[in-house]
Amino acid sequence: MTPSVIDKLANVQINELATSSSPNLQKNLSILSPDQIELAKMLLEMGQDHLFENWRDPGVEDNEKIAFLDQVALLNSSYPGGLTSYIKTARELLADSKAGKNPFDGFKPSVPSGENLTFGDDNFIKYEETGVEQVQKAVFVLVAGGLGERLGYNGIKVALPLEMTTGTCFLQHYIESILCLAEASCKQTQGECRRDVPLVIMTSDDTHARTLQLLESNAYFGMKPTQVKLLKQEKVACLADNDARLALDPNNMYRIQTKPHGHGDVHSLLYSSGLLKEWKDAGFRWVTFFQDTNGLLFKVIPAALGVSATKNYHVNSLAVPRKAKEAIGGITRLTHADGREMVINVEYNQLDPLLRATGHPDGDVNCETGYSPYPGNINQLILELGPYIDELSKTGGAIKEFVNPKYKDSTKTAFKSSTRLECMMQDYPKTLPPSARVGFTVTDPWLAYAPVKNNPDDAAKVPKGNPYHSATSGETAIYRCNSMILRKAGVKIDDPVSEVFNGQEVEVWSRVVWKPKWAATYADVKRKVSGNNNYISQKSTLVINGRDVHIEDFSLDGTLVIDSVDDAEVKVGGLVQNNGWTIESVDKDDTTLPEEVRIRGFKINKVEQLEKCYSKPGKYSLNP
Ligand code: UTP
Repeated sequence: MTPSVIDKLANVQINELATSSSPNLQKNLSILSPDQIELAKMLLEMGQDHLFENWRDPGVEDNEKIAFLDQVALLNSSYPGGLTSYIKTARELLADSKAGKNPFDGFKPSVPSGENLTFGDDNFIKYEETGVEQVQKAVFVLVAGGLGERLGYNGIKVALPLEMTTGTCFLQHYIESILCLAEASCKQTQGECRRDVPLVIMTSDDTHARTLQLLESNAYFGMKPTQVKLLKQEKVACLADNDARLALDPNNMYRIQTKPHGHGDVHSLLYSSGLLKEWKDAGFRWVTFFQDTNGLLFKVIPAALGVSATKNYHVNSLAVPRKAKEAIGGITRLTHADGREMVINVEYNQLDPLLRATGHPDGDVNCETGYSPYPGNINQLILELGPYIDELSKTGGAIKEFVNPKYKDSTKTAFKSSTRLECMMQDYPKTLPPSARVGFTVTDPWLAYAPVKNNPDDAAKVPKGNPYHSATSGETAIYRCNSMILRKAGVKIDDPVSEVFNGQEVEVWSRVVWKPKWAATYADVKRKVSGNNNYISQKSTLVINGRDVHIEDFSLDGTLVIDSVDDAEVKVGGLVQNNGWTIESVDKDDTTLPEEVRIRGFKINKVEQLEKCYSKPGKYSLNP
């Protein structure tokens, strides 16, 4: 546009604004560009005059006013449909919330169909095998933009060690698992193969720089940098009242307060990035979504991918058996009299009243299995790429939002603090047609889910029998899972002992840890463990950091650490006995200790160990 056209446009806009309700904005029009005037006009049309109420005369704080409109431009462009759409949706949802409207009004719940897996049986092994084949057609998406307020850790969650025996952090474990599964996939299919399966990490302003730094300072943990893409989600504007007036930062009247919009953003980001189409053109078939701190997830990914492929699921939600009323969402089929139908996660506090209101007077109760018939959602999803793209082409990736204002009193006229719209990744199926194949895969809870979400104080208050979801339980769950897997493979492993760390009672099993390259599936474990006389005592620690390590008639009462290069074949047998590594309780408030240790409430004392390193190719036998 030529300058005279810009001037003309600005004049038209200035005239429109001249009669506006914001004299302070009017006075400042001369310092704004036509685009900025357009944005200001949009705000006034949306009833946001208060944003300009305290603007000073031109010449005073002009840079701040420009910065304010830059922020408005960003908020406008990063939300599907812009701020107009955001404010309109907010008004509708706030009105529903004030009226106490039930989002599931008119829907009847029933139990959807899915696959229940039992770890290690033939069915499980068959699904694992099918799933491994599919890995080379899968892309992986890690949502890691969350603040982690409940955990209160100062760093990013993916940098936390998932266990302290080896100190491996979550991101390293995830990347190594993906690399190993991709390699196994290639070996299994023996044909044309794609090892470079992509990994997308959704970050936010709170996590982006530190996630990138973690990757760069660790050579991407072995992945090619081109395989990894970071997509940053933007925050959304906060809402000050039921009219959806945007909230200004209490410390800066030229800045709109913002908060995270939730992990549901991942869908619109993937869509707008163009990656989905790129993947489809490259022949990928699955998109696997997972979260920042679940150290067990990759134990079930192969079998779950196998279920998706076998049952042709468009959406496969990973789930665990759930006790009735347990504080975890239930996967539910909802059917409306008007023909609408969906299979989605219903939050536990909504499921019980919904059941009671629809002819189930006892609400959410356990069935003959001892669990609720509605499986517990663990928020790891596998979507089939083709139908996913079809759906997102219609919605642009926008996910049905919700608002959760904390009201000052029962009149519901004012909020305790500003609120915002939020959306959840698992609400994606809400807009799908009834013909969509939406199912779930239930696995044993010890195998699939041990997130690190809660700080020690809150975890200690969790009602008895419910999971702590803390750093303490996250780490002990890894040892339990690996011990249970070895037990299933025939190794005799002592029962765990019960201990209390940071006020949480947990089972302490033998500390067994292996790299994904040793065993990425149960079939791998079975191949590498043989003989009838394998034994690991409860006080023991076993670290396997090598690909071709075979355990046969081996007894461990202490600590053994094996490091071996890929072409070294190591047979481990006989008895290893030493004072081993002990677990010592620590005080969570002892600031001389690193935060990573304090949040667990224990540390590992490396008293004595046998450490074997095989750095050259060859055949070796460890039989002391
Ligand atoms: P959580 O429920 O653990 O939430 O998110 P959070 O925000 O990380 O932690 P709190 O609630 O503040 O304590 C589940 C997953 O979704 C990601 C998190 O990083 C985690 O992997 N997430 C959450 C996002 O990527 N973006 C968000 O806006 C929120």
